[in-house]
This record gives sequence, structure tokens and C-alpha cells, in this order.
Amino acid sequence: MEMKKIPAREGNHNLKDYNCMKESFAWESIKTNFSWFETGKVNMAYEAVDRHADNPNKSNQTALLFSSPDREEKLTFNDLRHESNKFANVLRKYGIKKGDRVFLFMPRTPEFYAAFFGILKVGAIAGPLFEAFMEQAVRDRLQDSEAKMLITTPDLLARVPQADLPALEKIVLVGDYEGKVESYIQYHEEMKAASDQTEMEWVDLEDGMLLHYTSGSTGKPKGVYHVHHAMIQHYASGDWVLDLKEDDTYWCTADPGWVTGTSYGIFAPWLHGVTNVVRGGRFTPDDWYHTLEKYCVTVWYTAPTALRKLVSAGKETVENYDLSALRHILSVGEPLNPEVISWGLKAFHLRIHDTWWMTETGAHIIVNFPSMEIRPGSMGKPLPGIEASIVDNEGNELPPYQMGNLAIKKGWPSMMRAIWNNPGKFESYFIQDWYVSGDSAYKDEDGYFWFQGRLDDVINTSGERVGPFEVESKLIEHPAVAEAGVIGKPHPERGEIVKAFITLNEGYEDSEALREEIRQFVKTGLSAHAAPRELEVKDSIPKTRSGKIMRRLLKSWELGLPTGDTSTLEE
Ligand code: PRX
Repeated sequence: MEMKKIPAREGNHNLKDYNCMKESFAWESIKTNFSWFETGKVNMAYEAVDRHADNPNKSNQTALLFSSPDREEKLTFNDLRHESNKFANVLRKYGIKKGDRVFLFMPRTPEFYAAFFGILKVGAIAGPLFEAFMEQAVRDRLQDSEAKMLITTPDLLARVPQADLPALEKIVLVGDYEGKVESYIQYHEEMKAASDQTEMEWVDLEDGMLLHYTSGSTGKPKGVYHVHHAMIQHYASGDWVLDLKEDDTYWCTADPGWVTGTSYGIFAPWLHGVTNVVRGGRFTPDDWYHTLEKYCVTVWYTAPTALRKLVSAGKETVENYDLSALRHILSVGEPLNPEVISWGLKAFHLRIHDTWWMTETGAHIIVNFPSMEIRPGSMGKPLPGIEASIVDNEGNELPPYQMGNLAIKKGWPSMMRAIWNNPGKFESYFIQDWYVSGDSAYKDEDGYFWFQGRLDDVINTSGERVGPFEVESKLIEHPAVAEAGVIGKPHPERGEIVKAFITLNEGYEDSEALREEIRQFVKTGLSAHAAPRELEVKDSIPKTRSGKIMRRLLKSWELGLPTGDTSTLEE
């Protein structure tokens, strides 16, 4: 069958040729763009904010264009510098210093970004938490990281654990609060009193910057630890992949509680000094098109799950908007369906560029470059300077078209440097010099990579990673549930949904009401995206003789597939 190929746009002379990038490429050459080239010291907050604020031509350019249903605000690079300076001073006043973990549990508002850069300016490590998390999810992350301070809002306070957090010294509240104020630091009051000048804490490239918790197939979420050095790759991919120019208006739809919302919602755009659109509130096709139109967005980074919803809303909806400013669209998080790419060509007259990477990789790894031919269904090719391959379980590279582990040669700049508190887990990601992603894929003879699926039980629902173990643990906390097994079930719009199989304790009967109660229990205890959309009561859950839940078998049953080797199945 002739493979469909979509050529690169003609006549755009800004596009860089892939082979040229590869030949001329060295991470080394990029570092002349950053302060450490001269001083040996660095800080992401300087490179992304203060450097532009120091530049008379850029200082008054809008850095942040914030819009939510009830608030609209613009911050220039100079404003962002001053606001983050003030917050750095507040942090210092309360004893926060280099290396301390400071977590943010709040919606993406201008205060979030000021606080985030304030944290980096004092050399502390930022830990952004998704605002939809429930108490248990917040507790796990604050406990493991031993966070010293949490920044949150009065509405979210009810989900902040009040006990079992011995390291947590202070809570900062952003917004009006009616309760006992002495217990909290009031953000707005402190900011009013703080000076807008501060000392930047200059750090080493390998000093800590960011902790993102993410789910695996076993155990609690893991703290993926990133350092300032990652900026080289954020900068390079912002240029080669996002194709950012200084006069762009860029919109990344991801929340900073997830890695796309930091690497490409904060770092890459501001390292390039572009105007960054941040939109709060829920998704609807009309609201999103309206945002693209109103702000004349030129570069747009989003996710397949959102694009599929736009496809469902139809071409009539998009035709109501003037999207003529838009020149470049990218996608991340799940496989990008070829049909969505064809639709994009019709609806936007633009190609949609798939990008593949992970929380652990910190930045783009395999992508569709603007300069490259797109083969719909393929994730594209590795970033120049990065060696990606398909390897077997011993780390031997496999020939084209053979499926295996998608792996990356250790040592790319934005690679995670540790799993917080868990060196054994960190080591377990590597076979020889290869970081093994947990995804299976193959490569074609031209070096394009094709995603096949996850090799472990991690669920990807609407682009969000859910660990089945976490959901199972929460389910069995419910008094009615004896045992639980959780899988990802394919779904046309969400990619996968969370499906749970449970057995009931004596005295409980299966009913619609009970199942709904259990679903709500996970939703309010853990988070909405982790709550099973389907829940099925069984007489028993298949387990190995050593007691491990055989999720693979549950999945095969669910999908009507052959069950494979069941020799380890308990009698
Ligand atoms: O399975 C892959 C899938 O998302 C996983 C990483 O999830 P997370 O760490 O939450 O980061 C998401 C955004 C960077 C991967 O192991 N994934 C990510 N991008 C793609 C993808 N699957 C298919 N195609 C992609 N482009």
C-alpha cells in the first residue's frame, strides 16, 4: 500500500533542514545563548524572564496574556520580573533557600507564574500540582518530596491535608480568605509589602529546578527530578520544533501540573521571548476557537484528545472563526490519529505536527519537524543530537520494522537526573546506556518512528497518565470493595478510559447505586481523571500465585483477545 505522505510547506525559508541541523549540530553551540557561557552560573528564571526585561526592546512586550471566564490580564516581561522578584523576597522572608521544595497547588493564574519564577529565583525546587487533585494525591506528593512550603488558594484548602506532613512549615494563600488568617501567609498582603528588587540565586547547571510527579504501573507516583541544564533542550526544541520567533503569539493548552505545561507552557516559549497565552476554564470547541481568533495565536501546541473533540464539533464550527494568524500546530500526549491530521489539513489548511516525549525526558525527543515530510501515524524523527532506537530487553538495537522498546541513549540535556528519594527506581529505567521508555515502537527504513503502545500497564486517558496501582489502592479503601484490578480500555475520543474490575466484601450487593458511589469515592479521594468510567463487579480477580493482579488477562478478556500464557495464574 502506498503510504500517505504530507510534504513540508513550500516557500517558508525560515524552516531548517533536518539534515543540516544534524550536521551542524552540537548542544555546545547553543550554550553561547545563555549567561553561563560567560559566568559559569545560570538560572532558568533569568534566561526566561529577566534577560528579556533587561532588554529595552522587549521589556514592555506582553509576556503573559491571561484569560479566564472571569478575568483577563496582561503581564509584560518587566511585570513578570518584578512580580517574581517580590515573591522571591517573600520566600526568603519565610526562610526558603536553595534546594528546598516549594509546591504550587492552584489554577494557572498570573500569580502562579510569578510564584513559580520566584521559587526558581531563590534556587528552590518547584513542584506544580494539578489543581484537580484530591487530598490523597496532594498528601502523597507533599510527603514524598518533604515540601517545606505550599502555595494554594482558599478554595483548594479543603483538599490540603492538615496532618502527617511534618516537613511542611508554611502555607501561602492566594486570594481572599474568611477563616483564621494567622495560620496562613497571605499572598497579596505580602506581595504589597515586598520589594520588587531581589538577588538572583545563581546556580549550577546540574542544580535542581523542578519536580513532576508521574504514575507508573506499580507503587505511588514518582518524583521526576529536573535540573536547570534542561534549558538547552527547551531552547533548541522551541526553535527547531515549535519554530518560535520573537513576535509569535503562542498557546500551549496544557496545565503546568503536567510536564507539557512547564517545558512548553513556560520554559520554551519564554526562553524565546514570545507572548504566551494562558487560558483558564474548561474546554469547549467554541471557547478554544475563540481564544485562537481573539489573540491571533500563531503557534498552537495541544493534544489529540482536544483535537478529536474539535473534529466532532465539525468543520462548520471552525468556519465561524478567523484563524488566519495561525501558522503552526503541534500535538503531544497520545498517538495522533492520521484522520485528525487529514482533518487539520482541511479545517486549518495546516499540518498537525506530532511530538513524542515523556515527563522523564523533560523535552522533545522524537518529533515531526516543520521542515520534514509528515508520514501520518508516525511520531517523526529524533531531535538532532539525540540517539533514539528500538532495542530488545538486553539493550541490543533492532533492525527496521522490528517492534521493541523505544529507548534513548543516556545523557541528553533535559533527561531526568533522579527519581526523588528512590535511586533504585531511577536505575531500573536503564538497560546498559539506554533509557527504556516503557513504550513499544518500530522504526522504518528512513528513520521515522511509529508508536505501538505501552509495554506496562500505565493508562493514558485523554493524554493523562494514570497508574492502575493507585486507583486499585483507592478502590479497596472503600468498605464494599474486596479486591480491584484496573486497566485502560480503548476509547475513540479519550484514547483510553479507566476501567475497574472489583470483587465485593460480604454483605454488599452489586447495584448501579453502589457502583456510582464507588466511582465517586475514587473521584473525590484521588482525582477526577483517575476515577473509573466503567466499573464491573466480578466473583474473583485473576492473580498470579504470588498474588499479583493479572491486569493483562483482565484486558484480554475485556477486549476478547487471546489470553496468552496463563501458567502463573492462581488456581
Ligand atoms: O506512552 C507515551 C505517551 O505518553 C507517555 C508519557 O506521558 P507523560 O509523561 O505524562 O508525558 C506526556 C507529554 C509529554 C509516553 O510514554 N505519549 C506521549 N506523546 C505521545 C505518546 N504516545 C503516542 N504518541 C505521542 N506523540
